[in-house]
Amino acid sequence: SKPLVAGLAGFGTVGGGLARLLKENADIIRRRTGRDIVVKRVLVRNAQKARNVPLPEGAELTTDPAALTDDPDIDVLVELIGGIDQARALIDRALDQGKHIVTANKALLAEEGLALFQKAERKKRILRYEASVAGAIPIVQALKESLTGNRIESLMGILNGTSNYILSEMTSNGLDFDVALRQAQELGYAEADPTLDIDGHDAAHKLILLIRLAYGVNYPYTALSVRGIRGLSSLDIRLAREFGYRIKLIGQVREVRCPEGRDCRDDGPIRLEAGVFPALVHHTFLLARVGGVYNAARVEANAAGALFFHGRGAGDLPTAGAVLADLMAVAREERPNNTGFVGRDLPKAAIVPPEEW
Ligand code: NDP
Ligand code: HSE
Repeated sequence: SKPLVAGLAGFGTVGGGLARLLKENADIIRRRTGRDIVVKRVLVRNAQKARNVPLPEGAELTTDPAALTDDPDIDVLVELIGGIDQARALIDRALDQGKHIVTANKALLAEEGLALFQKAERKKRILRYEASVAGAIPIVQALKESLTGNRIESLMGILNGTSNYILSEMTSNGLDFDVALRQAQELGYAEADPTLDIDGHDAAHKLILLIRLAYGVNYPYTALSVRGIRGLSSLDIRLAREFGYRIKLIGQVREVRCPEGRDCRDDGPIRLEAGVFPALVHHTFLLARVGGVYNAARVEANAAGALFFHGRGAGDLPTAGAVLADLMAVAREERPNNTGFVGRDLPKAAIVPPEEW
């Protein structure tokens, strides 16, 4: 079939990771979607910058957004530039031009996503954003699809890899806050503006998206109570440890009942308590053991019970894997395959009995 043609906006940590995966996993992509995914153009700010990842085969570099949004050959815009204003303008224009959208931009979707979701629906275009929450953990898909038959009672988790990396390095290796933050930046975990990470706003953006998925409501970003890890000292961490606790940056939402004696009829269909804050977590809890750049989410659902998701929350390949999954979903959408993918026969020699492991 005809390849899916993508315009890739952004060639930094995640964009570079995506270029690598498109090449390394080309056979899987073809097999699982029935077509190739090719990148026609890559949009960057500075075309002269040295890049340590080669451009996807056949792709041209550009600094002109219209070269992606207005090219009729391009089926899907992959937005990986980050930030709000320019990313919104890019996606808005691409939707006007009939493109599907894949993005990892939680700041944009949390603060101004509603208009974009509505526009995508109006235009009957696909807008996918798995990579925007918790990196490699497939939590968006889990809430949107797998748990859709459940009522979600609560959701709590570690939603920012940079903060968790800093706290882990301060706890286990005695690093200073600033040194650990610098390392997280060098490793490509931090946002272009790292205050979003350390002041809790990045986790808050992700929590807003999870609330929308779990409860179907637009929780106003500005109404969320948000505190980050700035100002936490090695002494705080040591003291917590002496009493058997770890300090973790937690994002949490739960449905709360109307307090007895209060009339809640004007509160709408659901009352939610939500926020992002550093918390003492007892070392015996799974969340206390989530270290480094890992993220985790604990979901309480009325049919499934408790579920625990754990995985890398940031970084090039873990994030790019989620972007690629969305791109492949777009590729499949135009050529539906209800079973997921059709399996190939496995030769007898490839079936290895356990004793030979
Ligand atoms: P980087 O800062 O590493 O890369 C950003 C890229 O976008 C660069 O190539 C830059 O160009 C380009 N760019 C930025 N602004 C513009 C603009 N106005 N016009 C054209 N190009 C522009 O960011 P990341 O790859 O880390 O993050 C990308 C997105 O993914 C963000 O929304 C981020 O929140 C999200 N995300 C990041 C994760 C991570 O682990 N890093 C994980 C999950 C989500 P140039 O190279 O010329 O400077
Ligand atoms: N800066 C983010 C983090 C990237 O550290 O979690 C992943 O969303």
